[in-house]
Amino acid sequence: MSKARVIVVGALGKMGKNAVETFLLNKDKFELQAAVVRNMGNVSHENKMFFQDIGIKLTDNLEAELQSGTVDILVELTTPDSVFVNSKLALKNGVRPVIGATGLTDADIEELSKLSKKNSIGCILAPNFSIGAILMMKFSAEAAKYMDRYEIIEKHHEQKLDAPSGTAIKTAKLIAKYAKTANQSSHTEHPSRGQLHYGVPIHSLRLQGFVASQEVLFGGQGQTLTIKHDTIDRSSFMPGIMFACEKIMSLNTLVYGLENLL
Ligand SMILES: NC(=O)c1ccc[n+]([C@@H]2O[C@H](COP(=O)([O-])OP(=O)(O)OC[C@H]3O[C@@H](n4cnc5c(N)ncnc54)[C@H](OP(=O)(O)O)[C@@H]3O)[C@@H](O)[C@H]2O)c1
Repeated sequence: MSKARVIVVGALGKMGKNAVETFLLNKDKFELQAAVVRNMGNVSHENKMFFQDIGIKLTDNLEAELQSGTVDILVELTTPDSVFVNSKLALKNGVRPVIGATGLTDADIEELSKLSKKNSIGCILAPNFSIGAILMMKFSAEAAKYMDRYEIIEKHHEQKLDAPSGTAIKTAKLIAKYAKTANQSSHTEHPSRGQLHYGVPIHSLRLQGFVASQEVLFGGQGQTLTIKHDTIDRSSFMPGIMFACEKIMSLNTLVYGLENLL
């Protein structure tokens, strides 16, 4: 079977660099065609040398890569201001987006979904690529069938641009889908009571020391249940990215959440 040809966008970010290194370790399955950055003028000499040494093209011309006809998959690991534009451009050019960057709105997701369907090519949107976080979401959806009071606390490193996190929003959506009744926990519009998403209050912390952590708390008569997940290293996301890149080649619609492919 021929190898899937991949580009990583946001290649100099924390996730992007990890992904580039992981693709190099998986050369039997993937061919890393290029690493895409926002602006070549801002790339340090050290980073230029790194990519030269590993023999991977470094570019800021995403459009040219997408139109080259030599790319199957775009791995999107940028920022909330870029993710939608880049993913849309990929789909328009017949390139499958594996989207890890967060910050897409419901309307953005709807538009990408329509484009994916229209062009009959896959698109995977995964707010969290780590298996532990996916299980945390699944277990939360299960608990919501039995306990009708719940809130989410998510904690991330202080450079994270979006809030609440994509994982927290996806968890809230899943809880709302599986809950038998609307959330019965008391909620007021006071800022310190969190922001409601799908009827679930989400509290966001941005603190040095965290990578990505989330607690989903359920309250019941005389008891609480806490489902908690901690990412202590970004390497936890890499097997999920590789898995998504394998799966996407046989999809022809948008899939939101890696749990739908397991
Ligand atoms: N799905 C998951 O499992 C998962 C896990 C962790 C993080 N994330 C998400 O993944 C994204 C990246 O996280 P991170 O921690 O790696 O962030 P980061 O360190 O800030 O990296 C983002 C990189 O994207 C670059 N970028 C922005 N717009 C671009 C564009 N149009 N073209 C090329 N590069 C562009 C940025 O460049 P500049 O510095 O020039 O802006 C930066 O190098 C975030 O949205 C984060 O929430 C997802």
